[in-house]
Amino acid sequence: MKNFLNISDLSSDECLRIIKTAIDRKINKPHSNEAKNKSLAMIFEKNSTRTRISFELAIKQLGGLSIMLEKDQLHLGKRETLADTAKTLSQYADIIMMRSNSHQTLENLAKYSEVPIINGLSDLSHPCQTLATLMTIIEIKGSLDGVNISWFGPISNVAHSLIDAANNDLGFTLTIHCPKYYQDIYFQKLNDMNKKISLDKVSLTEIDEKKVALADVIYTDTWFSMGDIEDSTKIEMLTPYSINKNIMSMTKKESMFMHCLPANRSQEVSAEVIDGEQSYVWHEAQNRLHIQKELILSFL
Ligand code: CP
Repeated sequence: MKNFLNISDLSSDECLRIIKTAIDRKINKPHSNEAKNKSLAMIFEKNSTRTRISFELAIKQLGGLSIMLEKDQLHLGKRETLADTAKTLSQYADIIMMRSNSHQTLENLAKYSEVPIINGLSDLSHPCQTLATLMTIIEIKGSLDGVNISWFGPISNVAHSLIDAANNDLGFTLTIHCPKYYQDIYFQKLNDMNKKISLDKVSLTEIDEKKVALADVIYTDTWFSMGDIEDSTKIEMLTPYSINKNIMSMTKKESMFMHCLPANRSQEVSAEVIDGEQSYVWHEAQNRLHIQKELILSFL
């Protein structure tokens, strides 16, 4: 693995190895010196709570250090090209993690960098989040085998990485419950980005109550990404996809509610669900830390 821009950069064995080692390290060896004298540069074009904190703590708990770089503090894109910034950072850091507005920026960074690049979220994908999600499911359910995940709402970068993971044959099945209008928007976006993804392993549907009844995991994401302007038409179209008590009552009692966060309790999920007994969102957020450690160590 030279870079980690998408889940498809990993084989299914590599995905499972990273997750299982993360579960083991979380219990047995949360602090070590395995990254002593190593440094992680982090570039953020967008705000972040979990990604920022988990990567910073991950490298520190492994004995290394992080350098936080907000885009506006760099010459990047103003007085210096991405290529020159990538080559310069490669002289100092052992790994670069970037949260980028555009996936193309990450691909360009990877092209010019002499050290590995980790995607800390782009407009296309959020692979670190997906590994933490799958780790949480394995911890609770014991395995991904036979687990039914039901995604609700537009096909976001998080959903895209989940589809990528389903294509890796990790043992779970994925149903995307999404209005046809937003399915089309996703395909148009992929087309505009010149990207393709197989949907052979995924059921794509509007709300399918039979699939909801079989779900072991109910997963959703914010309807408006950072920088999006909220509009009432979108809210109206997505309101039936909001995860509330009614949707949760259609699933098994032991179904897990998951959300990558940040969440809007008046839109994609109600407070009683996200703050309720079936919610694993804090567990999932914590696992970002444990997955980041394995990613860092995989590259070192
Ligand atoms: N889920 C996630 O990536 O959270 P942040 O935007 O806070 O990093």
